[in-house]
Amino acid sequence: MKRTTPVIPAEDIQRQKEYCAELRALNAQKSPAPLAYVDTYGCQQNEADSELLRGMLCDMGYEITDTDKGADVIVINTCAIREHAEQRVFGNVGALVHGKRRNPNQIICLCGCMAQEPHVAERLRQSYRHVDLVFGPQALWRFPEFLRRVYLRRGRVFETEPSDGAIAEGLPVRRSGKLKAWVSIMYGCNNFCSYCIVPYTRGRERSREPEIILNEIRELAAQGYKDITLLGQNVNSYGKDLEGGIDFPTLLEQAAAIPGQFLLRFMTSHPKDATEKLFDVMARCDKVAPVIHLPFQSGNTRVLTAMNRRYTREQYLDKVRALRERIPNVVLTSDVIVGFPGETTPEFEDTLSLIEEVRFDALFTFIYSPRKGTPAAELPDPMPKEEKSANFDRLVEAQNRISLEKHRSYIGTVQRCLIDGAGEDPRNNLTARTAGNRLVHLNGDQALIGQFADIKIIDCSTWALFGELEGDPKCQ
Ligand code: 5AD
Ligand code: SF4
Repeated sequence: MKRTTPVIPAEDIQRQKEYCAELRALNAQKSPAPLAYVDTYGCQQNEADSELLRGMLCDMGYEITDTDKGADVIVINTCAIREHAEQRVFGNVGALVHGKRRNPNQIICLCGCMAQEPHVAERLRQSYRHVDLVFGPQALWRFPEFLRRVYLRRGRVFETEPSDGAIAEGLPVRRSGKLKAWVSIMYGCNNFCSYCIVPYTRGRERSREPEIILNEIRELAAQGYKDITLLGQNVNSYGKDLEGGIDFPTLLEQAAAIPGQFLLRFMTSHPKDATEKLFDVMARCDKVAPVIHLPFQSGNTRVLTAMNRRYTREQYLDKVRALRERIPNVVLTSDVIVGFPGETTPEFEDTLSLIEEVRFDALFTFIYSPRKGTPAAELPDPMPKEEKSANFDRLVEAQNRISLEKHRSYIGTVQRCLIDGAGEDPRNNLTARTAGNRLVHLNGDQALIGQFADIKIIDCSTWALFGELEGDPKCQ
């Protein structure tokens, strides 16, 4: 199959494996085995990337630890989407200087989206001299080569040149969970929403080959994974760079045809590319969870245009209508930005009215954060902080009420849920997720973790449902 985006040649991946083997031999001489810690900020794509980093570290002979204390290698996988996330990273990376003074052989690495921002790389170079290795998301597959360079020469390595990126297959992965797994189906973003840094840090859209994705899902199903999320910055662009006419709904339907007891989810969908074909596939495939994250960002068409979102308020509402015609109980979540440059309070009120009209199950709400290098950062932004905060609070308050009302409507229903972990409260010692991914607290035998079960919903809060196992003597 001919494609328009590059794939890293197998021999280049092989060379990375040889670097891994070389480091593994060196590390094997140490007892106990050296420790590596990977700290992850931001989105699910970063979580998935960290699983690859851990896979490579294991291949290099490191044992994975869950704290920076005593770690021989520390990797900070960063997020650049908002100022706040960046400040946290700078604070935490700054604090690592003390550990490094105690253990000068420690290697500190910073990767992810922040590494790809020129002003961040410069600041790390000048003021964070205890950081040894800095590399962006497009260079992740070369991590063994970089680490070996630092290890053998003890010099600093910066690999932060801008890059459109490519597809790298065959990297080792160390998954964090036994029930839930991420599968990246594509990387990068071509949308250039005017506020967003991602297209600059993660390069151009490029899709993995469908057969490779489907094989990964087959393997996960065979290993007993029960909840598989297909990941991409905009999954609805899947396949545009591949020949053969495959698109996301087709891939999803093929994935749903794989035998096994598991649910499929996907994130994220840009509304402009979410088609009726996608909604039809969701409606007819039992394995596709009845849930969609469909970020609307603003309920006002002028603001949407300034954001370069390429849909209007009405077009967004039409999509939601088309979706609910096919899946009436679909769980709908979204992202919204308050205080985009030039947004007025009456325009913000269109966002409020949109959430009242759509009634999302949950909303991820953000105050606009200017990102250097994006067009929106150059726009005049006259609204005072206090007015933005007041609008933000109104939005959160309205959504909390809607989320609670939506949760109340579950009471008395029986939901097929995946019991996915132990709860922190002894009265509710298990957690579960509905097919629509709502959190459920319940009490029961820990041996049920990993199983699907019918749960009767008996109570709720804004954030969660409370239930009992159906057939449990307590509910009779
Ligand atoms: N400021 C605030 N929120 C942002 N997002 C993306 N960029 C910014 C920004 N500059 C939000 C969007 C996106 C989510 C992942 O983060 O709502 O959907
Ligand atoms: Fe950012 Fe828009 Fe791409 Fe999402 S679709 S990553 S918000 S540019």
